[in-house]
Amino acid sequence: MVKTVTGNISSPAFITDLFSQIPSLDYAVNCAGVLGQEKPTAEVSLEEFDRVNAVNYRGLWMCVKEELKLMLKNDIKPYYGFAISEQDAKTRGQRGSIVNIASQLGLVGKTQASVYTASKAAVLSMTRSDAIDYSKPPQQIRINSICPGVVATGMTTNEAGEVSDRLKDAIHIAPMARMGLPSEIADAAVWLCSGESSFVTGTGIVVDGGYVIN
Ligand SMILES: NC(=O)c1ccc[n+]([C@@H]2O[C@H](COP(=O)([O-])OP(=O)(O)OC[C@H]3O[C@@H](n4cnc5c(N)ncnc54)[C@H](O)[C@@H]3O)[C@@H](O)[C@H]2O)c1
Repeated sequence: MVKTVTGNISSPAFITDLFSQIPSLDYAVNCAGVLGQEKPTAEVSLEEFDRVNAVNYRGLWMCVKEELKLMLKNDIKPYYGFAISEQDAKTRGQRGSIVNIASQLGLVGKTQASVYTASKAAVLSMTRSDAIDYSKPPQQIRINSICPGVVATGMTTNEAGEVSDRLKDAIHIAPMARMGLPSEIADAAVWLCSGESSFVTGTGIVVDGGYVIN
């Protein structure tokens, strides 16, 4: 069953209402985000700084906080992968797994994007520190980030599906010289949620067609 609830994750009242409707949680992917205006720092208003960080950093942080509280109530589920012994399945068990969608721009800079890039670096930093607090026994909740490169979504294309002007050059920074597909990011998220990634925590998996190596 899929249940959808629409709301604003920068609102503490919405977060309280949303998580009051979730009795238990095994996996969470925190994906909501907004792009900042294309301006250098000296021209960015405080309102714009707050708008971006209210979603990308503060809103995501509020979600993670509630997800951790729910997952801490779970029993540890063993991971029975292919040809895994009873003992190894227990060792690889987890109470839950959280995936935060950051960005390749949390790792490298971009002109006229300081507010967005810093909000994504905050996600990577939060992920590392939360992983230190919650990954070890007895908590056994893994927390990771994904750093997507330029992906074809509503954020990067207009209604006709054309790439926005501000992103055209960025596509060719990546050696693969194409936009990523949402399904390519989703596959990484599924892997990070599953027991197949049971020894992976606190990291930022870069899924960017090679953008950050160039
Ligand atoms: N598309 C890219 O090239 C790219 C690259 C790197 C990282 N990302 C990140 O991936 C994530 C998904 O972005 P996307 O590309 O699918 O963009 P998108 O604009 O298509 O989707 C963003 C989603 O976030 C939701 N959202 C925005 N503000 C919200 C709020 N206050 N409360 C609740 N939901 C809110 C929107 O409704 C939308 O569904 C974002 O965090 C984005 O920063 C995207």
